[in-house]
Amino acid sequence: MLCASDEQNLEEMDTSPIKSCRGGRHLFHFRETDSTSNRAHELARKGYPEGTVVLADSQTMGRGQLGRSWHSPQGKGIYLSLILRPDTNPARMPGITLMTAVCLAEAFTDACGVIASIKWPNDLLVRGRKLSGILTEMALTGDILDYVIVGVGINLSHGEDDFPEEIRSRSTSIMMETGTLPDRESIVGSFLGRFERAYREFLEKGSDSFAERWKSLSGMVGKTVTVESAGAVIEGTVSGIDEIGALLVRDRDGRDRRILSGQVSLVG
Ligand code: BTN
Repeated sequence: MLCASDEQNLEEMDTSPIKSCRGGRHLFHFRETDSTSNRAHELARKGYPEGTVVLADSQTMGRGQLGRSWHSPQGKGIYLSLILRPDTNPARMPGITLMTAVCLAEAFTDACGVIASIKWPNDLLVRGRKLSGILTEMALTGDILDYVIVGVGINLSHGEDDFPEEIRSRSTSIMMETGTLPDRESIVGSFLGRFERAYREFLEKGSDSFAERWKSLSGMVGKTVTVESAGAVIEGTVSGIDEIGALLVRDRDGRDRRILSGQVSLVG
């Protein structure tokens, strides 16, 4: 295992990070970087261990799902990426995103009293507006999983005007919900603590280890949704998630459909 003191070649990175080793966890904190997930990929390729955390105060090219960008202004959000090295089948990886969403929702309630609901697979919403998103990426050699990077973006102290106009009406922040400046350390601490415990259980028991918590935190179970996937549209009622993290939707003909990817929208 590498130690924070024996790092090599971090000068290659665009800005020197503050490095620390807390509780055995390697932590890299950048004032600014293009994307914490890019930094985490570099560190993973250099051999940094599971649990390594990369944080930034701002990102110049924050990435979201489906090739979208993640607006990452200085000091307004939490931009965090984690290296994981699970010894498991890549097919189980969607479960990691859902597990991360559960840990985030619980951390928001624990650290600042905000009740967020999970929209499958990677959104955390309050009053239907996006508070936080997750981007899970993996590196494979053939069928073998090398490592996973879990990237988390949290809107923390944005006011309405801090969001670009095109997402303003669909976005919120912890401060907009509570009216007070949130404590970033306690949110990060609560999230990482929960993640560590949940991840251990996930490796032992798979998605069943958090499926009930996901169900109660998701705003989707029992609701009618449309799912657009591979050019087709399915309408049905959400019943839960399966063992690998697929969304279970009972369609109009009473058939249970497993949704592995697609755009899910609540009807009505
Ligand atoms: C989404 O909802 O589309 C996912 C957003 C994920 C954003 C985070 S911010 C930290 C990490 N670095 C990135 O470039 N993206 C993720």
